[in-house]
Amino acid sequence: MKHLLSIALCAAALASCCGRSEEIPGIKDFIKDDFKIGVAVSPSTVQGMEGEMILKHFNTMTAENVMKPAQVIQRDGSYDFSQADKIVEFAQKNGLTMRGHTLVWHGSTPRGYMNDADGNPLTKEQVMEKHENYIKAVFEHYPKDVVFCWDVVNEALADEPGESIYRTRSPWYQAFGGPEFIEWAFRTTKKYAPEGVQLIYNDYNVVDPAKLDRACQMLSELLEKGVPIDGVGLQAHWDNSITREQIQTAIDRFSALGLDIHITELDLTCFDNYHGNGAAERQKIKNSIHYTDELADAQAAQYAMIFDVLHQNRDKISSVTFWCLTDRTSWLNNFPIRGRLDYPLLFDSQHQPKKAFFAVKDVFTKK
Ligand code: GLA
Repeated sequence: MKHLLSIALCAAALASCCGRSEEIPGIKDFIKDDFKIGVAVSPSTVQGMEGEMILKHFNTMTAENVMKPAQVIQRDGSYDFSQADKIVEFAQKNGLTMRGHTLVWHGSTPRGYMNDADGNPLTKEQVMEKHENYIKAVFEHYPKDVVFCWDVVNEALADEPGESIYRTRSPWYQAFGGPEFIEWAFRTTKKYAPEGVQLIYNDYNVVDPAKLDRACQMLSELLEKGVPIDGVGLQAHWDNSITREQIQTAIDRFSALGLDIHITELDLTCFDNYHGNGAAERQKIKNSIHYTDELADAQAAQYAMIFDVLHQNRDKISSVTFWCLTDRTSWLNNFPIRGRLDYPLLFDSQHQPKKAFFAVKDVFTKK
C-alpha cells in the first residue's frame, strides 16, 4: 500500500501538465513566509494520497464542515468533537496550524437550537447562556497550539442594500432582537480564547463596493466600542470578474481599520460568481461544461493576478486558504446546481496541478 502510494506521489510530483514537465514544488515552499497557506479539508481528506498532498503544499487547514456548531452540537445538546478531532490530530502530528471555523453562523445553527423542548423561542438570555457554554467547551477542547484563529462570526451582513446593513433573517439577529449578537460573540469568545488566538469576522463578497461599505461600517463601529476583533476574513469565493482594484481597495480599507487580513475560502468558479446579480446568471446553466484550454488560461491569469496582489500586500495578510483541495471535491460541484461540475482550484480531479498552479508558482518564483 505504502509502495503504491509512493508511486502515485512520484507521478504527482513529476507532473506533465499543459506542456510543462517539471518537478512540482510545494505551494508553501514558493510562498515562503508571505503568509500561511491553507486548505479546507474533511476527515477523509487528511489521509492517503490527499493527506500527503496536504503535507506537501500547505501549512494550515480549515475544517470544511466538522468544526461548525451544527456538526458538533447533537440533538440532545451534547457535543461530539470526534470528526473534528481526526483533522486536529493530523494537524498536531504533522505540525500544521488550523483556522477555527466557525462559532456563530446562521447557516450552522442546529435545528431547534433557539427553542425550548416545547418549541417556544428561547429568550435572548437563554440563548446567550446556552451558546456561552458551547464556546467555553470549544476552547476547553481544542489544543491551544494548533488553532491559531477563529472565525467568530460568519456572514452577519446583508447582501443587498436595504433598511439594515445586517442579515436580519438570521436566527441570531432575531434571538437578540438586533445585531448585538456580534458584539456578544466576540466578547464571549475573548473570555475563553487562549492568549494570542486571533478573533476574525468572516464574510463573502466583501470586495463588492456596497458590501465593503457595510462591512467597514459594522467593523469600525464595533472597534470603536472596544470589541475585540483582530481581523477580517475575505471568503474569496470569486470568479473572473473580480478586479485587482477591488481586492486592493478591500485590503486597504480593512487595514486602515487596523485589522489583519485573512483570505479564508478561496476558489474561482468557471461560472458567474454566485452572489449578487451573478446568482441569477449562474443558475441558467444547468449542465456541466467542458474545462477548455480557454477556460484554463483565463483561470490561470486570474489566479496569477490574485496572488500578485496578495504577494504585494503580504505585510497585511496572515493567511490564505483554498476552499478544498482538488476540483473533485469542491462544494461548487453541488452549488448552486447539484451535480454540475465546476473547476475552481489549483489541482484537477486527478490531483494534478493545473495551469493555474503554475501561474501562481510563477508569481512567486519569476522575480
Ligand atoms: C460559506 C461558509 C463555509 C462553507 C461555504 C460553502 O462560505 O463560510 O463554511 O459552508 O459557504 O461550502
